[in-house]
Amino acid sequence: MQIHTSIPEVRAALQARRRIAFVPTMGNLHAGHIALMNEARSHGDCVVASIFVNRLQFGPNDDFDRYPRTLQADCEKLAAAGVEILFAPSEEVLYPEPQQYHVEPPAIQHQLDGEFRPGHFRGVATVVLKLFNIVQPQVALFGKKDYQQLMVLRHMTQQLALPIAIVGGETVRADDGLALSSRNAYLSVSERAEAARLHRLLKRIAATVHAGERDFVKLEREAVGELDQNGWKTDYVAVRRQSDLQLPQGSDERELVVLAASRLGAARLIDNVEIELANSH
Ligand code: PAF
Repeated sequence: MQIHTSIPEVRAALQARRRIAFVPTMGNLHAGHIALMNEARSHGDCVVASIFVNRLQFGPNDDFDRYPRTLQADCEKLAAAGVEILFAPSEEVLYPEPQQYHVEPPAIQHQLDGEFRPGHFRGVATVVLKLFNIVQPQVALFGKKDYQQLMVLRHMTQQLALPIAIVGGETVRADDGLALSSRNAYLSVSERAEAARLHRLLKRIAATVHAGERDFVKLEREAVGELDQNGWKTDYVAVRRQSDLQLPQGSDERELVVLAASRLGAARLIDNVEIELANSH
């Protein structure tokens, strides 16, 4: 695997490549990332990954400083997964001066996760556009665990007419259902056992909606109650439309998703479960 840290170097390495499939990451790679790398191989001739812990998407109270940085181990995993090129720039390379031009996503950036992480999606969209401009991929892959991020990046790509196909990779889970995440490392042993509740709860809500329940507010309130009684501090549990994450309107909405973010100890965990309702006509 080639590892490049400078923009001219990685551009030169990518010049002769035909179909680039790109997986941007912040490192500390787990099986979820590796599944994206494997999927990327079926979308392009050359799989490119990036590792960059993007300060712009962290708020002042977020975990930027303690975000796990494990470059050596990550390189081994990427090489074993058949990644051809890794772009791993320093902050000085990607932000040689304070970033003054930003991608400003629409109102969705202030909702759901955006309500609790002001500026997060602006930071994500800005760094991803910058990485797209450097790598110039034909396809880019992002995990569905960060459902809102995937939606924002899809819309950005579409609205800015970027010639890039965005692919969402399925969430990879531990045996008890907990979505794999670098932030799971912040959980104590007892919190790790409790953490599986989040996915169980979302699956239960999905099953209840499948069974015909449409009082989403009640489902959301009950879910927050259950989490908070068990030591969580919940930001939101929300049933939304898959396409734009807005509130479902009327009973003909068929593609829904239930999303949640909640804190357990030092970890803020997010997860979601898609709900596909059969057509009633
Ligand atoms: O999902 C992530 O790891 C990050 O938000 C991303 C897309 C690499 C941008 O920094």
